[in-house]
Amino acid sequence: METVLSGIRPTGNLHLGNYFGALSNFVKMQHEHNCYFFIADYHSLTTHPNPENLHNNVKMVLAEYLACGLDPNAATIYIQSDLPETAELYLLLNMNAYLGELERCTSFKEKIRKQVENVNAGLLTYPTLMAADILIHKATKVPVGKDQEQHLEMTRNFANRFNHIYKTEYFAEPVAFNFGKDLVKIPGLDGSGKMGKSEGTNNAIFLIDEPDVISKKVMRAKTDTGPTQQNQQKPEEIQTLFDLMKIMSTPNTLSYFEDKYNACEIRYGDMKKQLAQDIITFTSPIREKIKEIASDNAYLKKVAKIGAEKAKESGAKTVKEVREIIGFKSF
Ligand code: TRP
Repeated sequence: METVLSGIRPTGNLHLGNYFGALSNFVKMQHEHNCYFFIADYHSLTTHPNPENLHNNVKMVLAEYLACGLDPNAATIYIQSDLPETAELYLLLNMNAYLGELERCTSFKEKIRKQVENVNAGLLTYPTLMAADILIHKATKVPVGKDQEQHLEMTRNFANRFNHIYKTEYFAEPVAFNFGKDLVKIPGLDGSGKMGKSEGTNNAIFLIDEPDVISKKVMRAKTDTGPTQQNQQKPEEIQTLFDLMKIMSTPNTLSYFEDKYNACEIRYGDMKKQLAQDIITFTSPIREKIKEIASDNAYLKKVAKIGAEKAKESGAKTVKEVREIIGFKSF
């Protein structure tokens, strides 16, 4: 059984891209592997959120994870700051992380360009904190997107360096977990490729979006004046609608509109109405569940507590062993 670990920075609500890209796979994986799913609230501090936003974002991600089917009894679902041992491992790993490699990290270079007024040490050492998250549970499989691969590579470097310095084989190398054929890419509504919250509010459909909001977003998606030749290739923004329909609608619905397009008889308004309806049908039960869970503080508290206890069992053991390897010993 592999130990799988995934972290998410709580920066806003989850969208269909998060659901199909990762969450739906996590739900399947949680019964097959030793899974840790945590909310990276320490990492969030690198952008200085205000306390209310931070708390609310953590709560929403937790409620959304649970509403989508993550099971606190199967996986370890926890909040990063509930495992302060992470911070100790981060400190220890930082002693063997070099300024040069941290400065060369692509995400750091990007961040210092984007937040010139807040180039803090947490941004620089973001990769060592992420390494601490992974190594503290000795995770070997980490489902990450392309943008996180360099961080994973740095984690391997930190792990190997630690082993080398202390002449041990304590840490194993974590590698990216690939969903393979289970990976579904959700295009954004603006036709620019990926669904994401940073690409603008109309690009993503959030699990929490009300039906009227979903309809508006879909109806606003860009289309052209329609095909002029039979079976002609679809421009990007049209392909996006078809790609979404392939995921959200039945095969019959999809082929109905494919045929209409190929015969130059398509009415985008009809297609969008159908697509919006199918998205609403899919998200409505999830949305209701998110709202129910988010308003049940006692339940959230219980889930966070179970997660913190399970995370602590594994995390405290690692930190204790690391301290001994380093030479911190009690008299
Ligand atoms: N850096 C990740 C992101 O922005 C979030 C994260 C923090 C993470 N710690 C992690 C992901 C550990 C995987 C493993 O997406």
